[in-house]
Amino acid sequence: MHTLTPLPILLSLLLSTPSALAWGVLGHATIATIAQNYLTPTAQTYVSSILGQGITMASIASWADQYRETRAGRFSEPFHFIDAHDSPPTNCSISLSRDCGTKGCVVSAISNYTSRIQDPSLPSTERTAALKFLIHFLGDITQPLHDEAFEVGGNDISVTWDGEETNLHACWDTKMVEKLAGGENSSSVLEAFAGGLIGEIDNGTYSSEKDSWISCVDVSPASGVKGCAVEWATDANALNCVYVLVGDESGVELDGAYYEGAREYLGEQIAKGGYRLGAFLNGLAAAAAEGGKGELEKVVVQEVSE
Ligand SMILES: *[C@@H]1O[C@H](CO)[C@@H](O)[C@H](O)[C@H]1NC(C)=O
Ligand SMILES: *[C@@H]1O[C@H](CO)[C@@H](O)[C@H](O)[C@H]1NC(C)=O
Ligand SMILES: *[C@@H]1O[C@H](CO)[C@@H](O)[C@H](O)[C@H]1NC(C)=O
Ligand SMILES: *[C@@H]1O[C@H](CO)[C@@H](O)[C@H](O)[C@H]1NC(C)=O
Repeated sequence: MHTLTPLPILLSLLLSTPSALAWGVLGHATIATIAQNYLTPTAQTYVSSILGQGITMASIASWADQYRETRAGRFSEPFHFIDAHDSPPTNCSISLSRDCGTKGCVVSAISNYTSRIQDPSLPSTERTAALKFLIHFLGDITQPLHDEAFEVGGNDISVTWDGEETNLHACWDTKMVEKLAGGENSSSVLEAFAGGLIGEIDNGTYSSEKDSWISCVDVSPASGVKGCAVEWATDANALNCVYVLVGDESGVELDGAYYEGAREYLGEQIAKGGYRLGAFLNGLAAAAAEGGKGELEKVVVQEVSE
């Protein structure tokens, strides 16, 4: 007898096939939640004026992954990573000219959307999209395997997780994050996981290093943003030579010693992504407020001269 697979199951099978190419839903939602915690009042107003009242950053943090799968959004697929053609585990490095392909990469995308969000001539829908992209890409750039070409960022390194076949990249994006957090994305898991990392940033493990995470944050489209994004990519890529790709993990069960060793880096990269995203949005909001003042001054000057 012929049984029909129900459509929802068929769809979820189709959607769960390969191309794990971004921190999973929980990683992005956590980064966004941490960032939201560190927004200045000015930035809170700025973000909600662009996203819409009451829309949390966590709820749109994975929009770019859904958009990438659509025909209209396919162009943005290369924006989620930079393919470092370095030699892990001995030599890790990022070179923009070597590694950012002609179709763009996460560094050029961060630069592009930083200038678009500040371009008042663009329609508001485009500036909203720019903010959603930035919230996503400042997350992706802290995932070490998003800054690596070796074995397609680990997508081609087959491993198992709890006996199930998967790949190294997917473990970093999702499996290990969910294990660290104690579950899949839900409001309770998210609140507890983000809250714990915020505590570590404020008064714990990360309190002495958090300043170094935001030593380069620059929202000026013309100069600073690209250089800082290269620094962020270089920082995460370095972990491939410190831990991520140091052993030959091919065929290895990762839910064990590998996961235990990865925990500290995993937590730090997510905390870092969130804290940095917060600082970045604070910078954008401050620049917008300055610009706004500039506009007002112009108006005042015109009124005076008339
Ligand atoms: C790593 O970099 C060093 C110094 O630049 C160079 O001498 C060496 O050949 C490189 N090794 C690999 C495997 O690329
Ligand atoms: C900048 O963003 C726009 C809108 O998404 C896109 O059409 C364009 O290709 C991007 N440019 C670069 C250089 O990434
Ligand atoms: C993840 O969970 C948060 C909190 O419940 C929710 O706002 C967000 O939409 C979820 N993300 C996705 C992609 O479902
Ligand atoms: C934790 O750090 C925050 C911010 O730096 C501070 O306001 C708070 O008092 C600290 N709490 C503890 C228990 O040290």
